[in-house]
Amino acid sequence: MLGTAVFALLQAQLTGLPEHRIADIMKPLASPAEAEKNIALFSFAITGVIFVVVAGLIAFTLWKFRRKHGEDELQEPAQVYGSNQIEVAWTIIPVLIVFIMIGVTARVIAGVENASPPQDVTKITIIGHQWWWEVKYPDYDIVTANEIHVPTLPDGKAASYLRLESADVIHSFWLPQLSGKTDLIPNRDNFMWINPKEPGVYFGNCAEYCGTQHANMLLRVVVDSPEDFDKWLANQQKPAVEDAAVKDGKAAFLAQSCVNCHRVRGTAARGNYAPDLTHLMSRQTLASGMIPNDPDGKQLREWLANPQAIKPGCLMPAFGLSTRDRDRMVDYLRTLR
Ligand code: CUA
Repeated sequence: MLGTAVFALLQAQLTGLPEHRIADIMKPLASPAEAEKNIALFSFAITGVIFVVVAGLIAFTLWKFRRKHGEDELQEPAQVYGSNQIEVAWTIIPVLIVFIMIGVTARVIAGVENASPPQDVTKITIIGHQWWWEVKYPDYDIVTANEIHVPTLPDGKAASYLRLESADVIHSFWLPQLSGKTDLIPNRDNFMWINPKEPGVYFGNCAEYCGTQHANMLLRVVVDSPEDFDKWLANQQKPAVEDAAVKDGKAAFLAQSCVNCHRVRGTAARGNYAPDLTHLMSRQTLASGMIPNDPDGKQLREWLANPQAIKPGCLMPAFGLSTRDRDRMVDYLRTLR
């Protein structure tokens, strides 16, 4: 299992795919993440001062009241207690500090959550599943998975509003460089927004334990320039590619129970239980960010052979396909750009 993971990582590097890593919250690239970084630094500064003062007082006391040469070892030091001033001071000061921190935090949370959306926003619905992310663009009739494309402008004016839902258990959506964590809860809609300021690929994770493959519920956000984003939208809106050269592969795919769970728009595959495959090859990864989606279909072939070997416990079983069927199906799936 470890071997598979290491192999996948190496593969990712060979194919030039950015390796999935935990992103640095101290390098924010969108307004919500910036506000959150500032408040983290503020809390760190206050607790840092408290640490220095308390540790300093302890060190000073230890030094000042150490046992000195020639003192009687059995003599008790002077016993001091019952100072009202000191007790009032060390009660009131911490209470004040806590209230200041609560107030500042509440202000930042309200500022992020109540920010009014600019007129021109991209609306995206994210649905957490065990263990992958469904991504919908309701205004464009697009459904994809695990990779979220959003537009950017250098001033951060292109914002995306995310509606967060869950299909099964509680997940948590976390893009450290773009915004804080927000839970995806069954039968409840949560919202968050991001306005990334630079094109690039940003990594995220599920941040709430949601079962066996929680750690492999990886997310990536592809931030495009407005032109690239429009191109991506236009391609995603098209129905699946029809290529006569792979019609045997298509027939083999449609003959399998794949169609009960997966959708390929414009075909008889209309499942909506598993990732939409209409534009499968436009995605960088398979298995929710675990393995690269190489254009040769090498990883896809492995995945079809036995998903459980790559992502144990995932809801896709091994179908025991013949090598011939599997190769034909991969040839077909590879045309879905
Ligand atoms: Cu989904 Cu953890």
